[in-house]
Order: sequence, then C-alpha cells, then structure tokens
Amino acid sequence: MPKPSNRLSGILHSGKDGWEVHFAAMTRKEAGEDIIMLSVGDHDFDSPSETVEACVRAVRAGYHHYTQLPGIPCLRAAMARISTRCTGVETGANNIIATPGGQLALYAAVQGTLDKGDHAVVVAPYYATYPGTFRAAEADFTVVEADAADGFQPRADAIEKALRPNTRAILLNTPNNPTGAIYSRESLEGIARLCVERDLWLLSDEVYWALAEGHHVSPRALPGMAERTLVINSMSKSHGMTGWRIGWLTGPESMITQLTSLNLVTTYGLTDFVSRAAAEALENDYGVEQIAGIYNGRRKLFLDAIRGANEFTVRGSEGGMYVMLDVSAIEPDDEKFAWGLLDGEKVGVMPGSSFGEAAAGHIRISLCQPDGILLEAAARLRRFASAYRSKAA
Ligand SMILES: Cc1ncc(COP(=O)(O)O)c(C=O)c1O
Repeated sequence: MPKPSNRLSGILHSGKDGWEVHFAAMTRKEAGEDIIMLSVGDHDFDSPSETVEACVRAVRAGYHHYTQLPGIPCLRAAMARISTRCTGVETGANNIIATPGGQLALYAAVQGTLDKGDHAVVVAPYYATYPGTFRAAEADFTVVEADAADGFQPRADAIEKALRPNTRAILLNTPNNPTGAIYSRESLEGIARLCVERDLWLLSDEVYWALAEGHHVSPRALPGMAERTLVINSMSKSHGMTGWRIGWLTGPESMITQLTSLNLVTTYGLTDFVSRAAAEALENDYGVEQIAGIYNGRRKLFLDAIRGANEFTVRGSEGGMYVMLDVSAIEPDDEKFAWGLLDGEKVGVMPGSSFGEAAAGHIRISLCQPDGILLEAAARLRRFASAYRSKAA
C-alpha cells in the first residue's frame, strides 16, 4: 500500500491516554460483571419520542433528497432562534451553518480560522478531540491550563503569556467537559479583551449550554465579540440526539458564507429527513427542559451523596454532564485510583490526567446513569476511599 498522508497519520498521538480504564470497564461489563460505567458521556435514555415521530413522518413524506449546503432554511432559522437564546445575541439564519454534529462545527471553526503553521491557544482541561482537530488543520497550539484551585476558571493573564505573533484563535469550552465548570463573566471578559486587543478569533464550544441555562454566559455577547466569535453548538446534549449527528456553527455572516465551501467538499449538506426532524425539535424545544432537569437533578443528588465524605473535594461540577472530584488526598495518582476503584468496587471513571495536567489528581464522573445507580456509585466510592485510607495507615 502506498503511504498515507502525514496529515492523516498525525491526527492522533499514540500512547496511553487514560481511556484504557474505560475500555477495561466496558469489556468486563460486557462479560457480565456488575460494573457501573461512569466513564462515558452519552445519555442513558432515548431521543424524545416527538423527535423520533417527526423523523418517521419526514421519511414517509419523501424527504430523501439533497439539501442546501449550509442547511435547509427552516433548520437554519430554528438554529438561529436557539443561538439567540444560548448566546444572548440576536441571531439570524445567515449567521448559521448546519453541520453533522458539534464535532464538525469544531472542525469547520478550526479549518476556517487557521492556516498551516498558524498558532492557537487551547484552554484545558479540554474535550478529547481538540488537539487532533488542530493537527488535522496542520496548525500549532499551546495548551493553557485552568487551575483546579481556581475551580478550573481560565485566566486571561496565563493565556496572554502563551500568545505568539502568529496566534489566530483561542478555543474554550463552557460549560466545560470534563470539569463541569461554568466560566464566569469575569473570566470571559478578560479573554474577550485579549481577543479584541490582539484581533483574534474566539472559538467558543457551548454544546452543554442547555444543561446550565440561566448560569451560562456566552462570550459572543461581550463587547466587540460578535464579529470575532464562532460558537460551536449541537443537538447531541441539549436535545438528546447524540446519534443523529446534528450541530451548527454560529458566527458573522461573511464567515458563514465562506464556510459553506467547506460543506461543499465535505458533507455536501445534511441528511434531508434528519434535518426536517431536527428543525421541528428545535422549534418546539423537544426534550430540552426535561433533559436539563434530569442532569441538574442527578448532579445535586450525586454531589449531596459525596459531599459528606471529606476525602473528596468537589471542583467545577456546576453544569453539564460531568462532575470532577479531587481524589488526591486519597491517592495522588489519579490513574492508579481509577484502576483501584474498578478492581475493588467495579466502578469505571475517567482519570483526570487524561484531560491535561490541571485535572491530575482528579476523576471525572459522568452523570449518564439513573439516580439509583449514581447513589450506589457514590456509596462504592466512599467505601473505596475509607478502605484505601485504612490500608495506607
Ligand atoms: C465539549 C464538547 N464539544 C463537542 C462535542 C461533540 O459533540 P457532537 O456529539 O455533537 O459531535 C462534545 C461531545 O461529547 C463535547 O463534549
């Protein structure tokens, strides 16, 4: 076989990345062990039945054809309505390009703002696909850690130090995966000022906005930012539609027009019947309030169950689908902790260091399990911690 491109082989870095604990937990669960999986971020429930019915109707009605490259008009209009609500900035259909999932919105944002050799700053802890998305654009990036001691709030002064003459963009994610931190207005104002002063793009991943509505602040709404912010959004989390692959990018109209050429050479537009169902789900907010209620309820339930145990320090964990526990008082090596928890108590979690240095000494816990299982997991965690302590004493 001839050699593949360096671009392709450079997307993923080889080596250990912490997902070994997750895959081991999955294999053991499939083999019949009573493993509680708290390592993945996919809903434990189906998409809303109204959305499913809308899709079935659309298939039967003959929506089987090519669609407009930036998305069908009613879908873009419905996404614009949600973007107005998510970002607090009046948004029109021409500010929207529809993509197959938030990941492709992120890919488009990076491809659209960085040339080969350009530099970006990525705020960590971050979502696992970020580095590979920059490598796919042959762009360079510097990771700037948001400290656990600050509740994982990013600091503009740390970001400023990482800027270079060829820096073109900053990427951040709020509410954050993996930490659950909701970035404060103050943190975002500092970063926005940098973007304006240095004429930078801000790539703002807000796919968890609906799981923190009322607390979420979009940097797009800050002074001078609407013209330089690209917001990554998705129906995966807010509308319970991970497998449907529907997301979008919101930004200045002229940028969105240019990004349409990327859809020409990649997706050639979205699936027709999925687009119709997605538009109906967005117009009617199918599932949004219920899903937010489920995760907000689970977060409180789990944190209440864990808070009594003083070995754990809760950090971030304010919104979204995850909570982050500092376990360093029990075991500073988070990977060792995660393997011990899997072996000793059959609970699968992600070691924090898989998401960057700032989350070392932590574990990430997904809330994608029903209340009863989360309570059982909290009990197993507490038992594991006290057994670990007495073993060490
Ligand atoms: C922070 C973040 N951004 C983007 C995505 C991608 O979302 P999608 O499933 O819509 O591609 C995810 C998915 O987990 C995520 O956690």
